[in-house]
Amino acid sequence: MSTLSVAVENLTLEDAAAELERLAGELAHHDALYHGKDAPEISDADYDALKRRNEEIEARFPELVRADSPSRKVGAAPSGIFQQITHARPMLSLDNVFSDEDVSDFISSVYRFLGLLPDNSIAFTAEPKIDGLSMSLRYENGKLVSAATRGDGTTGENVTANIRTIKEIPQALPSDAPAVVEVRGEVYMAKSDFLALNEQMLAEGKQTYVNPRNTAAGSLRQLDPTITASRKLKFFAYAWGEISEMPADTQFGMVDVFKRWGFPVNPLMQRLSSIEAILEHYNDIGLKRPDLDYDIDGVVYKVDRLDLQQRLGFRSRSPRWATAHKFPAEQAFTTVENIDIQVGRTGALTPVARLTPVTVGGVVVVNATLHNADYIEGIGNGGERIREEEHDIRIGDTVIVQRAGDVIPQVLDVVMEKRPEGSERYQFPRVCPVCGSHAVRERNEKTGKLDSVTRCTGGFVCRAQAVEHLKHFVSRNAFDIEGLGSKQIDFFFEADDPALTIKTAPDIFTLEKRQNGSPLTKLENIDGFGKVSVRKLYDAINDRREIALHRLIYALGIRHVGETTAKLLARSYGSYAAFAEAMKTASDITSEAWGDLNTIDGIGEVVARAIVEFYKEPRNMDVVTRLLAPGMVTPQDAEAPVASSSPVAGKTVVFTGSLEKMTRDEAKAMAERLGAKVAGSVSKKTDLLVAGPGAGSKLEKARELGVETTDEDGWFTLIGG
Ligand code: IVH
Repeated sequence: MSTLSVAVENLTLEDAAAELERLAGELAHHDALYHGKDAPEISDADYDALKRRNEEIEARFPELVRADSPSRKVGAAPSGIFQQITHARPMLSLDNVFSDEDVSDFISSVYRFLGLLPDNSIAFTAEPKIDGLSMSLRYENGKLVSAATRGDGTTGENVTANIRTIKEIPQALPSDAPAVVEVRGEVYMAKSDFLALNEQMLAEGKQTYVNPRNTAAGSLRQLDPTITASRKLKFFAYAWGEISEMPADTQFGMVDVFKRWGFPVNPLMQRLSSIEAILEHYNDIGLKRPDLDYDIDGVVYKVDRLDLQQRLGFRSRSPRWATAHKFPAEQAFTTVENIDIQVGRTGALTPVARLTPVTVGGVVVVNATLHNADYIEGIGNGGERIREEEHDIRIGDTVIVQRAGDVIPQVLDVVMEKRPEGSERYQFPRVCPVCGSHAVRERNEKTGKLDSVTRCTGGFVCRAQAVEHLKHFVSRNAFDIEGLGSKQIDFFFEADDPALTIKTAPDIFTLEKRQNGSPLTKLENIDGFGKVSVRKLYDAINDRREIALHRLIYALGIRHVGETTAKLLARSYGSYAAFAEAMKTASDITSEAWGDLNTIDGIGEVVARAIVEFYKEPRNMDVVTRLLAPGMVTPQDAEAPVASSSPVAGKTVVFTGSLEKMTRDEAKAMAERLGAKVAGSVSKKTDLLVAGPGAGSKLEKARELGVETTDEDGWFTLIGG
């Protein structure tokens, strides 16, 4: 071990290569002794020291990482599971648009947000949307240090060892690259490589792969880098995460820099300003699509100037400065074998067409949603015809199905020539197929029109609603209880044994206690449950006895309250006690609480009403009371606003009048970024009114109530901008 004494920083390239070779041999020797013969020659600590030394040298000389490196050994990571990496900047997704009008709306919205007239002064980049896997590659001091999948956008999986086998991805950047750079882009498999791989699989009598995207994903998300290396994956760079110093000030310039650094970039990217030029390029890429050696599913448009991107900012999940213009969906013919009715959490009866299996755009489709009774008849949500008269959907019909991106397949139209003789119109059920209660179409109070949804009136007695409620309660954005998925909920709901049954959410948190002193025994040996999985389930449940307020509110399953609304409510009320108290008081619509609820920006009357209704129902209150009883679940207070150091953090701000230095949307986004709440009307709770010229009644009301007021200049002085 002669070189062990040399500090890693002082190793030459040759020394390092020689030592890595020796370490690979030495560690393989010790592995064999340890695992194979159970007769180690060295202590664990010495073994760990060798491993660490190997990793340190690899970190400094990534280009020297060997195919047989000990750091890549399958056993290194826990079986089948990668380490998590938290992205320094979240990896967001893109909004989708489908028509020329949508594109025009997108462009107008950019101008509008920035307070500009649409005069073609803003340039956009337009490039193919690659159908692969997004990847974030982190370089520190010029060396690739980690590679992470998108995951949920906040944390992804550490697939560094596999990424290092992709030849197109540089292991090191030129010396003028910033100290910290995260290059983002898409890993994909070329169509030609995919076809060759499948030929090989066929020749070997093995199962073939479904499509290049899934194959690329599978090749990356497995623990043996030699498999990834054999799959010839490729990469296009098109975005970035954290970067210590920006090397360009436009999207186009950034991609150019990536190219100079040695990354493959897509040759079809162009910088364009007019809608005509943008749409022409979209059509052009569409025509080239069949001849490209990689799958694409649309064209991505991005505002070119980075300062404008910065001003436009983000919505909750996607940037305002970019959108994806998807290619039209793919279609196929098949037959409707049956129409089933599913009953959802809110009692909605959804018809589903069971289809003769057919491939649409490379995916086998067997079900398609038929939405509601009107849809089956050929009538859209606004009462308009979506298919010709007589083209109602019937069992036995031959239909055209369409799949667009990740959207659920749709039945587009009926092929009338193939309609079987004597077929009959589908009779939409008038009773719930699950509980037998009446199923009705409610009348919209405002418009007087019939609602398109047929709803089961069974409420708590309807088994389907209760089960779906539970499934929602444990779902990912709610309580997120691992090991308690759809299948398990079905099982516990059906279980007759009082020790096992789960009928309502609080039952989840008494499950362990109900095992009557002999924990685990009841659950063990039941379909799919072993000692370990039962213990894990209890742990997962106990982990959620403290829960973020917005998760609790979302989990309650109040109609119209999705994740975003739940977050708004949590942020506005701070604690569960304050929220619940306010919602109960708000049932009196003359109360201040009702007024306050309606002033929360983003909460309209329909939502407000649904929440109040929920709190009026004694059975809901019973469930919530049991859930939040001592020893059960404790909601945590909402987190303080992100930018707690800003002068407006936690304050409620109202903007009024015609703003001249920023658009209304921009003002709102800016205030929220600084941790303020933006309300639509003035009340005693308003902390600050920002009034532009022409401000009227709101300014008067603010003065009456003694609310602080300022103008736009005052606002910028206040926030230091
Ligand atoms: S830009 C902040 N450009 O599409 C937005 N994304 O639907 C960063 N994708 O997760 C993404 N080709 O995996 C961008 N040329 C392209 C893309 C692209 C494919 C993927 C990417 C992203 C998803 C969003």
